[in-house]
Amino acid sequence: MAHKSASIILPSEITSEALFHDRRAVLAMGLAGAALGAATPLTALADIPAERYKAARNARLSVTETANTFEEISGYNNFYEFGTDKSDPAANSRNFKPLPWNVTVDGECEVKGKFALEDLLAPQTLEERVYRMRCVEAWSMVIPWVGFPFAELLKRHKPTSKAKYVAFTTLNDPKQMPGQRERVLDWPYVEGLRMDEAMNPLTLLAVGVYGKALPNQCGAPLRLVVPWKYGFKGIKSIVRISFVEQQPRTSWSHAAPNEYGFYANVNPAVDHPRWSQATERRIGGSLLARRQATLPFNGYADQVADLYKGMDLRRNF
Ligand code: MTE
Repeated sequence: MAHKSASIILPSEITSEALFHDRRAVLAMGLAGAALGAATPLTALADIPAERYKAARNARLSVTETANTFEEISGYNNFYEFGTDKSDPAANSRNFKPLPWNVTVDGECEVKGKFALEDLLAPQTLEERVYRMRCVEAWSMVIPWVGFPFAELLKRHKPTSKAKYVAFTTLNDPKQMPGQRERVLDWPYVEGLRMDEAMNPLTLLAVGVYGKALPNQCGAPLRLVVPWKYGFKGIKSIVRISFVEQQPRTSWSHAAPNEYGFYANVNPAVDHPRWSQATERRIGGSLLARRQATLPFNGYADQVADLYKGMDLRRNF
């Protein structure tokens, strides 16, 4: 089972392999920066075989804590495009269509264009990573994601030296996303990372959970996972990835700059203005169970603390 997913070749992968070489050829002709892609017709091929999600676990980058159940992971969500209660995303995203799906890659990179999801996925080996996740609202979960490192996507799109940040944008479609009919946030949802954060091996683009495609409420078909940061950095249902020179204006830091910073590193020493971040409640545990201590960088300090050397994390929260 372990490497089966990697060896499955989709018809569209064959196309995209050819396309990839076409793109290289165009680049070689000196047309670097030309809009590439948008060439794969979206047909029934946009259906990704279930086997693709049964990925081998990356044990080195996985925690050994017991994972939350599928029911917990898919029944207690933040996805304001479908409503603000934890049960709203599951209830209101049933008719959401995550396929066919296109992702625009643009900005300061050599290989840009609009890519069908299956073409973005085609060259990637999916892996399972069990990550500890911490929401800014002081609850946590352990989630077995299936995805590929963002660094792999980055390699193929070749950001230029001007690219200092990556901005991510969620689909804007009030017809499918009823929460967008209310001005809860300045839609579409936007998030961002500094380039070195995006390239860190922990940063994952997830397409599945528990060996299955992501349920709609979890951000189908493609979402970001950054386990050392508060959950709001993990933008869902991504349609655009832009390499940019300036720090992007993100939805939450724009809505409430004193409460939600751009960095949003999990930090038990820096309280939210309205509550402490020192402890957290693990979803699924008994309500009477003691809260557990929150760890700096959510327990991933060894892997990421160096990224912030010399920065005052009280100011850059
Ligand atoms: N992405 C979008 N587009 N819209 C959202 O409202 N909520 C964020 C993040 N990504 C959100 C989003 C918040 S606050 C959290 S805690 C995580 O998604 C929750 O992810 P989960 O529901 O898969 O646990």
